[in-house]
Amino acid sequence: MKYTLSEKYNTPALQSRIMGPNPVKLEEELLREHQIPAGAVVCDLGSGMGLTSLFLAKEYGFTVYACDLWSDPAENQAFFDAMGVPRGQIVPVKADATSLSFEKDFFDAVVCVDSYNYFGRDPDYLDDKLLPFVKSGAMIYIAIPGMKRDCHSALPPELLLSWTLEQLDYIHDIAYWTKIMECAKGAEILSIKEMESNEEVWADWLRQENEYAISDRKAIEAGGGKYLNFIAIALRKKSSVAG
Ligand SMILES: C[S@@+](CC[C@H](N)C(=O)[O-])C[C@H]1O[C@@H](n2cnc3c(N)ncnc32)[C@H](O)[C@@H]1O
Repeated sequence: MKYTLSEKYNTPALQSRIMGPNPVKLEEELLREHQIPAGAVVCDLGSGMGLTSLFLAKEYGFTVYACDLWSDPAENQAFFDAMGVPRGQIVPVKADATSLSFEKDFFDAVVCVDSYNYFGRDPDYLDDKLLPFVKSGAMIYIAIPGMKRDCHSALPPELLLSWTLEQLDYIHDIAYWTKIMECAKGAEILSIKEMESNEEVWADWLRQENEYAISDRKAIEAGGGKYLNFIAIALRKKSSVAG
């Protein structure tokens, strides 16, 4: 696909903040036909070092809560300041997605790029841990690294060049994610599909010189990419039934 909006985020300085296959391009594809209302308050769940939050604020005008477990909110705030984002348009929050502490029905939408697979494999996660903080009717958009077909019982040796069994257990196919999402009583599944983004977002990541990207090169250079894809999921929180 043509990445009209994310092309300008492809500078070495900005890309040095990515933590996996280019999350800005993934986000642009994920939101191609989004239904998030103008001026929405959006949870960027697993926002990493804030690039996807910057993209949501600058390109779509949303107010963004950049919620992440591993990154430093003060460092992310300094990044947003340096990028000229008005204070309050992006709020960096140290947050564990499995124990969020916002007011009920706080968010107008959730966007989650390359992180849901860390915490969302529990079939009860959506109903118990995320939906309570999302308004009825709100959209939830998720992009995750996936497998074209689950092959955990006979993992291709190429994949084991870069990742452990435990890490590969975070990566599954559309059938697996469909089953997980179908367990949520409070959300309607609008679509679960393979994304177009794959080779290009991997190439942007593997160009980085950090230890994780360097380690990931082994699997992809050995041809492991043919087993992998990215999966886009669009959900809508159902309206609560009175009584
Ligand atoms: C591969 S990184 C991707 C970050 C970012 N979306 C990007 O692509 O640059 C995965 C992210 O998931 C976040 N994460 C993992 N478990 C989490 C949890 N329980 N709650 C919140 N964030 C979590 C980590 O903090 C990390 O930033």
